[in-house]
Amino acid sequence: MSLTVYRKAHFNAAHRLYRKEWSDDKNAKIFGKCSNPNFHGHNYELEVGITGTIDPETGFLIDMKLLKDIIKEEIEDAFDHKNLNVEVPEFKELIPTMENIAIIIWEKLRNRIEQQFQITVKLYETPRNFVIYNGN
Ligand code: NI
Repeated sequence: MSLTVYRKAHFNAAHRLYRKEWSDDKNAKIFGKCSNPNFHGHNYELEVGITGTIDPETGFLIDMKLLKDIIKEEIEDAFDHKNLNVEVPEFKELIPTMENIAIIIWEKLRNRIEQQFQITVKLYETPRNFVIYNGN
């Protein structure tokens, strides 16, 4: 019997989408407002799903307090109120699109969560734009 539990989280972060080898005009054409040279922020909403089976001793799939602490340490402490391009090493060479942010979040959680669990990351960059990544 397999179930998925979810934990929601939130962070504010600034970014700029651009390729340094492209002109400002080309960056603006491809990336739109997200290429503003002075950066801008988003209110990112995160949902982390953990899929597995229930531990018969506890009735838990995973300890939600532990999941909460992992998300805080790995994601909120690392990204919240940061400029992703400038302050987060993973995005020094990687464009911080919501797609790439979701993959980095998944990889950071994968390092901390036991292998018996599958991880799904759902990341909203705006209320209407979101991405789901499950490692495949
Ligand atoms: Ni943006």
